[in-house]
Amino acid sequence: MTIGVFDSGAGGLSVVAAIRASLPGQEIVYFADTAFVPYGSRSDGEILDRTRLCCARLLEHDVRALVIACNTATANAIDAVRAWAPVPVIGVEPGLKPGAAATRSGVVGVLATAATLASRRYAELLRRTRAEAPGVRFVEHAAQGWVELVESGEIDTPAARETIRASVAPLLQEGADTLVLGCTHYPFLRSAIEAAAPGVAIVETGPAIARELARRLHIAAGGPAADTDTTAAAPARLRLEASGDVERLAALAARLLPETE
Ligand code: DGL
Repeated sequence: MTIGVFDSGAGGLSVVAAIRASLPGQEIVYFADTAFVPYGSRSDGEILDRTRLCCARLLEHDVRALVIACNTATANAIDAVRAWAPVPVIGVEPGLKPGAAATRSGVVGVLATAATLASRRYAELLRRTRAEAPGVRFVEHAAQGWVELVESGEIDTPAARETIRASVAPLLQEGADTLVLGCTHYPFLRSAIEAAAPGVAIVETGPAIARELARRLHIAAGGPAADTDTTAAAPARLRLEASGDVERLAALAARLLPETE
């Protein structure tokens, strides 16, 4: 049995890395909507339609769970996908709660796409987190050009560092000591982010998604499932599919996930 993982592009591979770390040996089929990436500047309707279509493609593989490894697609489409998908659907949202737990200055910077930050789902997450952590201030920033940097494989060049520094600087000026990476592409820019914000805590959500996936598989299996055995040594097998050029995606995946076969 296979896990289906979806993203607009290569960003969801950061979630694949986390799934491989906690569920070694699990087969993964990954679908990237590379003909339509980036989603962050698209309309709600377009994101909804593309997400439905791509998830339907993954369901053709008889997957036992679907991971929407894209904050933007989760924000706009997870309810619609859950309404018809016959398997558990796990999404990803910016880690505001871990951000609130990590900050000492009381200011958390949230980096995500414009579409994620504008979504009703994000507003609701923010409202809930504020109620639980009233002393924490969240400062959002739509990180222009970051998804494109990852898609072009430009993850730690001088130009990439400059783009990242320009986005991070206003958040540091606001007093942020914690940065939430609210887009699955951004973990691949981590070394440039750390260079732009030395000493700042960085919150990623990949490991939490992998834990939630393991929990849902466990429940669906009605108890311990043999193929979720975390002691297995083999890395998860990964099959790549794309709406655009799959060879290009494979070359990018080999750079982003060096252990990809
Ligand atoms: N990886 C997607 C996310 O987590 C990127 C969105 C995009 O394509 O702009 O939001």
